[in-house]
Amino acid sequence: MEKIIEKSKLAPNIHRIRFHLPLLVEKAKPGQFVILRIDEPGERIPMSIADLDKKNGILTIVFQEVGKSTAQLGSLKEGDLLADVVGPLGTPTHIEKYGNCVCVGGGIGIAPIHPVAKALKEVGNQVTSIIGARNKELLIMEDESIAACDNLIISTDDGSYGFHGFVTQVLAGILEKGEKVDFVFSVGPVLMMRALARVTLPYKVRTIISLNPIMVDGTGMCGACRVTVGNQTKFACVDGPDFDAHLVDFEELLKRQRMYLKEEKVAMDNFVSRMDQSAHHHQSHKPS
Ligand SMILES: Cc1cc2nc3c(=O)[nH]c(=O)nc-3n(C[C@H](O)[C@H](O)[C@H](O)COP(=O)(O)OP(=O)(O)OC[C@H]3O[C@@H](n4cnc5c(N)ncnc54)[C@H](O)[C@@H]3O)c2cc1C
Ligand code: FES
Repeated sequence: MEKIIEKSKLAPNIHRIRFHLPLLVEKAKPGQFVILRIDEPGERIPMSIADLDKKNGILTIVFQEVGKSTAQLGSLKEGDLLADVVGPLGTPTHIEKYGNCVCVGGGIGIAPIHPVAKALKEVGNQVTSIIGARNKELLIMEDESIAACDNLIISTDDGSYGFHGFVTQVLAGILEKGEKVDFVFSVGPVLMMRALARVTLPYKVRTIISLNPIMVDGTGMCGACRVTVGNQTKFACVDGPDFDAHLVDFEELLKRQRMYLKEEKVAMDNFVSRMDQSAHHHQSHKPS
């Protein structure tokens, strides 16, 4: 059982949770993830590492409520217990001195780029981070991002804050100006990462993206996280989640991501009606 030692809301439907897990934190590296289960019958939820406090053994995850399990996770409070948190899983991001690095985070993807930006800066890279969201209200971790890089650029789709447009347009602008970029690391929605790969390809900039395909066991046994990279079948949970953006088959990835839409909707509808029933039950038992 793992206790939530801190929980806060970063934006509508986006939460940050912290756990005290010294053994896991000691071994974990930027780019890796954990798999958690809320309770015994619960599904296994993969979550990227958003921060590692090595000194105090604290793991931070940041997540968005998108369906049944993440909505349930969002309903938990500080002090609540989870069945388990397993990790670190996946291959860490390869960190070395590349020169000028750009970290691009879209939406909830801002969280996993944070430890990578920090690690790239620590080994002496010049790090620019580009973080973007649909609007100002949904933009997360601005202060942490400033602390983790040399130069932060913000964009919003609706222009409510920073550059009016997509993070990929900001990166395109940097490359078009002829600024030297040696390495790009990015996490975000699949469509954003596909667009990013198209932006950096003509400039031949090494571009690594972290993929979030559907995962079950996280250990390379079930095959759920299969992706095609450079015409080879890879398992994102063990061979990744980082891959060369210029080699990923995005069309297949998009198709696989939508495979369980029907089942996901049924699970969410059941969860909402259970929550409604429980609220009704509490209401009708309240002393008048
Ligand atoms: C390596 C990895 C790291 C991740 N890190 C984060 C993170 O830091 N923050 C965050 O908010 N989300 C992260 N995710 C996505 C998160 O795991 C899913 O949002 C979550 O599992 C959805 O569960 P659900 O029951 O709430 O939604 P569902 O109703 O099951 O699904 C809603 C959406 O989430 C996708 N999804 C469902 N199950 C999974 C799964 N097991 N793995 C990946 N996607 C899934 C579906 O394609 C669908 O589009 C990560 C996923 C992976 C694989
Ligand atoms: S999640 Fe099962 S093989 Fe990757």
